[in-house]
Amino acid sequence: MGISIIGCGHKMPKFVATNKHLEEIVDTSNEWIIKRTGIKQRRLITDETLTELATQSSKDAIDIAQIDKQDIGLVIAATFTSDTSTPALASNVQKELGIERAIPMDLSAGCTGFIYALATAKSLMESLDIETALVIGADYISKYLDWEDRKTCVLFGDGSGAVVLKRGEQKGIGSIYLNGKPDVEEVLVINDKQATHPWRDAKHDDKRIHKLAMKGAEVYEFACGAIVETINKLKEMSGSQIKKIIPHQANGRIIRYASIKSKIPLDNFYINIQKYANTSAATLPIAIDEAWKEGWLKKGDQIALVGFGAGLTWGGMTIEWNLPNFV
Ligand SMILES: CC(C)(COP(=O)(O)OP(=O)(O)OC[C@H]1O[C@@H](n2cnc3c(N)ncnc32)[C@H](O)[C@@H]1OP(=O)(O)O)[C@@H](O)C(=O)NCCC(=O)NCCS
Repeated sequence: MGISIIGCGHKMPKFVATNKHLEEIVDTSNEWIIKRTGIKQRRLITDETLTELATQSSKDAIDIAQIDKQDIGLVIAATFTSDTSTPALASNVQKELGIERAIPMDLSAGCTGFIYALATAKSLMESLDIETALVIGADYISKYLDWEDRKTCVLFGDGSGAVVLKRGEQKGIGSIYLNGKPDVEEVLVINDKQATHPWRDAKHDDKRIHKLAMKGAEVYEFACGAIVETINKLKEMSGSQIKKIIPHQANGRIIRYASIKSKIPLDNFYINIQKYANTSAATLPIAIDEAWKEGWLKKGDQIALVGFGAGLTWGGMTIEWNLPNFV
């Protein structure tokens, strides 16, 4: 018995913000952004909601999976940017999809969120005897960006992806490696501390409240270490079966570094950062869906998903890809 991905989908916002758009608002250049990150454009939410994107990517994943949506017993959304602080994004999607009974919850683990969500879904499916689960990765990170800070606003975008998991005969998800450590130096933080009642002392409030603050060089160093450590662990755990890697897309240079250090050719890493930038927890399910629909991901491939992000968190998992070839 195993747990496999039997359907996937993704939905991006309509608005494309190119590097040229960013040149108009901060002191940056298309050349700098491409050279230092590999990003050419990103999608940003304008008139959509995150719930709409998450619902549409889930509908597409359910269609591919050819299941009755009422068979879904668990909905986990990896996100930290739900349209509503409560209910959870997963509950909003459950409502929009019209799933009468399921366990909905959000999971916040920064850009590693989707890996954590898949691992959590697998454990709950096994322990609570759930046959089918919907796992979403969706983030609306642009609402937390400081659009005057060229060091961060050029790096991120919005989007959503989803997969359907099902228990069955095929192996599907294999080895799982998760890890985390305290962000002692606050290298990647969105501060939400603020006065919420009349007696609280506002002098403790952070001036950069609700804005993503990042120490780029420190995060870069952490990310390079985390991605290589995860690939090595997964290789060790799976007996070096991994053929292709779908990594978190934060910077093309981090992926190139991982390729060199792990001695896995760069062509075996899926890369779509040029189109979408870093979409946080949405990155991996978007990449999975595109990699399959473009024919890069083929039936029988032994793949590894690898993520890292705020927390600090990192981790990955091996998956035997069981869906028939799309093209
Ligand atoms: C942010 C990042 C792209 C910066 O790249 P870098 O090559 O390290 O660049 P540096 O930070 O050394 O900055 C070099 C110079 O470029 C400038 N710069 C930074 N952002 C710029 C931008 N968008 N456009 C133009 N110049 C920029 C800096 O101000 C600096 O100028 P200075 O030397 O005059 O001070 C890189 O550190 C990175 O990718 N970090 C990890 C980010 C990440 O993965 N975050 C999410 C984790 S999930």
